[in-house]
Amino acid sequence: MFKKSNRSAFENFLLGKYERMNRDLIVRSYPYMAAIDPSSICGLQCPFCPTGSENWPENDVPRGHYRKRTTMTVELFDALLDELGEYLFMILFYNWGEPLLNKHLPYFIKRANALDIYTEIHTNLSLRLTDQAMEELLLSGIDEIAASIDGFTAGTYNTYRRGGNFELAKGNIERLAAVKRRLGLDTTIAWNFLVFSFNEHEVEAAKKHCEKLGIVFNKRVAHIYTKTHPGWLPSDRKGELAKSARPEPVDETLRTTCGWHYAYTTINPDGSVSPCCALWDQKYDFGAVGQGVSFAEVWNNKYFKKARSLASGVDAKGIGDLITICNTCPTRKTMPDLYTSLEWRILERSAQVFSGSDSVMVKAFSLLSRESDFRDYYCENFICRRNTPPTGSANSTETDADWPFARLKRELDSVYASKSWRLTYPLRRLSAFMQGIKARR
Ligand SMILES: C[S@@+](CC[C@H](N)C(=O)[O-])C[C@H]1O[C@@H](n2cnc3c(N)ncnc32)[C@H](O)[C@@H]1O
Ligand code: SF4
Repeated sequence: MFKKSNRSAFENFLLGKYERMNRDLIVRSYPYMAAIDPSSICGLQCPFCPTGSENWPENDVPRGHYRKRTTMTVELFDALLDELGEYLFMILFYNWGEPLLNKHLPYFIKRANALDIYTEIHTNLSLRLTDQAMEELLLSGIDEIAASIDGFTAGTYNTYRRGGNFELAKGNIERLAAVKRRLGLDTTIAWNFLVFSFNEHEVEAAKKHCEKLGIVFNKRVAHIYTKTHPGWLPSDRKGELAKSARPEPVDETLRTTCGWHYAYTTINPDGSVSPCCALWDQKYDFGAVGQGVSFAEVWNNKYFKKARSLASGVDAKGIGDLITICNTCPTRKTMPDLYTSLEWRILERSAQVFSGSDSVMVKAFSLLSRESDFRDYYCENFICRRNTPPTGSANSTETDADWPFARLKRELDSVYASKSWRLTYPLRRLSAFMQGIKARR
């Protein structure tokens, strides 16, 4: 269950929805979910993981080829949380490495927890952990620890988790469950099991073991490179071999947007920001936070603006020719909302926080599925409360004047300054403004 209760986080969520519906190129909302990777270093050699494949002794991909191998510093994390923490509902503390290799992780989680942010890690758990380290992790306030253990015997486990130690990982999850019970915590501990042909016969045994331990068992669908490993498809997925590997052509007439450019973000240990969590190669990154550059600057730089323009069909001024990885993404218009379950949790939480106390918020959330009604209601009730404009990026050519609502905002600011805006602001200006938007679309 989400924990956020500050109104500004929910307002930011609504603003994000509004901007996404408008297909705005420059946004004022911050993401409400972030994958913040504490470590891009890992000691294992999982074959389909780009980090793992760099570790293969027989592989000629040099270390650090795809991404700089490092851990996030406290200074960078603090700066990120100072800027984004107010708005984030959830942080996934993992992406392309082993999160427990960052010794500051309990501190990161503790800080996030103090801001009511739900936190989760995925870990191979194949490392030596003292009871004290386990206690520190659990007492940080972490909400979910999911261990990636793909098998129930050492032989099958090591087929994918190359370099891992099954007995160590299994022993660690058992100890974690025991320490959690002793501390009386309600942290979710899960055993994540990627299913392949070579381990599917062990799924039931792993599941039973989890029931005995009182932890969650998750059977997960593995990405399998069928070109090189067709035999690894489990029995219920053999039909995939007959399917064409070629993606469907993108339907350019669709005006759907990708959530990664409005609602979610991925930040790597060195501060680089990726367009989405699926891109492991740093050459596709959209900029970097740190060394004087804020997240807002990256979030509204020319790369993000261009990526947003691909969905909106609105040409991003001055950067029409810019090519990013999103230009070639086959799912850029058909990607379902990855975090729909996350949004339901925000809706549920909004009901808990605002029911009976804040009818404006309750109504706004209730209208989210009716785009046109939501936009009208949002304009009437929230647009006047915008924060300061986003800072222009050093990389970008846009100014605040490019923002579609800049003119309205200037007017509102002057009314705001009169301190009697609630009484004096003429509603007909808003409705004229809405007409203007409708005419432009
Ligand atoms: C790259 S890992 C990083 C976190 C940690 N090192 C781990 O393995 O759990 C992030 C997630 O990707 C999953 N993963 C690795 N290989 C996968 C595959 N072939 N298909 C689907 N998920 C995979 C891991 O199990 C984990 O849940
Ligand atoms: S343990 Fe995780 S990060 Fe490490 S190689 Fe395997 S999937 Fe990749």
